[in-house]
Amino acid sequence: MKKQETRSVLIFGGAGFIGSNLAHHLLTRTDARVQIFDNLSRAGVHHNLEWLKKAAGSSGRLQVTLGDVRDVKAVEKAVAQASEIYHLAAQVAVTTSVTDPRNDFEINLCGTFNVIEAARKCGHKPFILFTSTNKVYGNLGLSEPEIAKQRYVYPNHRGVSERQPLDFHSPYGCSKGAADQYVHDYARIYDLPTVVFRMSCIAGPRQFGTEDQGWVAHFLYSALQRKPIVIYGDGRQVRDVLCVHDLVRAFEAAHVYSYVTKGQTYNIGGGVENTTSLLELIDTIEKLTGHRLEFVMDERRPGDQPFYVTDFSKIQRHTAWKPEIGVKKTLELLLQFWEENRRIFSARVPVESFTLATELSGRAG
Ligand SMILES: NC(=O)c1ccc[n+]([C@@H]2O[C@H](COP(=O)([O-])OP(=O)(O)OC[C@H]3O[C@@H](n4cnc5c(N)ncnc54)[C@H](O)[C@@H]3O)[C@@H](O)[C@H]2O)c1
Repeated sequence: MKKQETRSVLIFGGAGFIGSNLAHHLLTRTDARVQIFDNLSRAGVHHNLEWLKKAAGSSGRLQVTLGDVRDVKAVEKAVAQASEIYHLAAQVAVTTSVTDPRNDFEINLCGTFNVIEAARKCGHKPFILFTSTNKVYGNLGLSEPEIAKQRYVYPNHRGVSERQPLDFHSPYGCSKGAADQYVHDYARIYDLPTVVFRMSCIAGPRQFGTEDQGWVAHFLYSALQRKPIVIYGDGRQVRDVLCVHDLVRAFEAAHVYSYVTKGQTYNIGGGVENTTSLLELIDTIEKLTGHRLEFVMDERRPGDQPFYVTDFSKIQRHTAWKPEIGVKKTLELLLQFWEENRRIFSARVPVESFTLATELSGRAG
């Protein structure tokens, strides 16, 4: 019988919230070799690397490369040995894409192009999964919602499927959307096994949420730290929430069933059973922690979807994947992360002054 090759997994953006959860899963549940490629530009993510280093122990299975996806040579070098690539590195916020669209364009579109070009040129056709976003669907052209006490309601809405027309809105929507189309087309044109995940709101442990991105974590941490926040709009916006552990299972499902998923695009999210409005989440947080999050309201932000719920039936049909963890449980896991890591939250060290970065380059563990 042919011996199974050891997986050699490269995660661009692997120090981040989602990437570090994927890497941890691979290090602790599989015998994969894991290479993380990250420029540590997201505040706080060096803590995730420390966590991964511990998980890898002395196994020698974790390699950390400090690099930038805009650097063609560095990307090519990283890709050379990879049998699987998860491309998560990104400028992740709509707000910062509006203030600096060139930076957003160069990281999200040119950076993604560098990754798939390196994969095309390396010659061994690695599996590639790209994390796109529901923002590629714009404001969905929804009619006026019904208003319930705490949320907007669309009584017959069963979720957004992949048949929804693309409508890029905001520089972030444009850069991720264009990258999403490139990744998808590289499967058709060059026969690369690529998969695109268009994800809605992901939440869970290792997330350093801010007002700009990672709103569920931002709400919870702000309540715990008694810091008032700003809500843009009236707080009745509805989102579906997917726990990061469920997302990691979806990554694995997409890889295991790559003979079906290659060349496909999937909407990934918590679905109709895992929705919450902003106001409802504030209530849930209060029940969980005993702290009422203080907030003031401001104008709705341009491009903000009033209602987004994922129809994930396509990936369910193709791989049998579906979410297993609800919104409340996701919040409990986040709370547990916060409680176990109070040191991080009491002294958030700016990334610029972080020196461990150089120690971590090269093979860890
Ligand atoms: N979290 C969500 O709710 C969500 C929803 C939809 C899509 N996504 C996408 O998923 C991916 C991961 O998101 P996340 O929440 O883990 O974000 P994150 O900010 O925690 O992780 C992104 C990582 O990429 C790194 N990075 C940024 N620019 C880089 C560059 N130029 N070169 C190398 N590394 C760079 C950052 O340091 C960070 O570690 C992103 O592509 C994001 O657009 C996330």
